[in-house]
Amino acid sequence: MTIAANVTESNGHTFSPASSFGNGRPRIVGIGGTTRANSSSEQALRAVLTRLERAGAQCDAYCADNIKFPMYDPQDETRCEAALHLLESVRAADAVIVSTPGYHGGLSGMLKNALDYLQDLADDDVPYLQGRAVGCIASAYGWQAGVLALSSLRTTVHALRGWPTPLGIVINSSTTKFQDGTCADAKIERQLDSMANQLMWFSTTRAAAA
Ligand SMILES: Cc1cc2nc3c(=O)[nH]c(=O)nc-3n(C[C@H](O)[C@H](O)[C@H](O)COP(=O)(O)O)c2cc1C
Repeated sequence: MTIAANVTESNGHTFSPASSFGNGRPRIVGIGGTTRANSSSEQALRAVLTRLERAGAQCDAYCADNIKFPMYDPQDETRCEAALHLLESVRAADAVIVSTPGYHGGLSGMLKNALDYLQDLADDDVPYLQGRAVGCIASAYGWQAGVLALSSLRTTVHALRGWPTPLGIVINSSTTKFQDGTCADAKIERQLDSMANQLMWFSTTRAAAA
């Protein structure tokens, strides 16, 4: 049996990878954190990106001020420079990581608003996050809020046609601290390793099938 790497859907879109490692390196985009630079959710995101860079990936991070966009308005086609950068990066990405704080049982408004901008990719040949693995991380001041936020984030990623990695990570920021890019909890460090491995594996397998 031959498996086609590119499939034409009923709407005429051809599903093919956004990047097939033109320069031999997967492109991975990280989005997340809070308005505060170096928030725990941002540090967890950067810890996975650092591992991916070590493994040969080309990474971009969109955190704090870089995702503080005006409220997404589908009726207004004006887009700020920062939002256009994010959209171009996601278009070219082989994989994505999203890291959210847990705010009142879900994602932060700032991060959800940034993800709403991916609506502008709806009519692309590869819409939204289609075909891309997405590492999901949530950090909150307690386990209940973290687990709820992770679940909510994975639902949003599914709605955007992304493939959440089997491992999602929850950080309880009341007990778990980061310093200089390293988490004090060895178990979380191992989870960050696993998420990086899963993103590399999925990206490489996807590129090989292109
Ligand atoms: C608006 C807002 C709502 C929050 N809601 C909750 C909550 O419901 N439960 C909780 O455990 N923590 C809550 N927190 C705390 C954050 O989850 C916590 O600070 C988390 O570690 C995010 O931190 P970071 O900025 O270091 O990523 C809230 C914080 C803010 C600012």
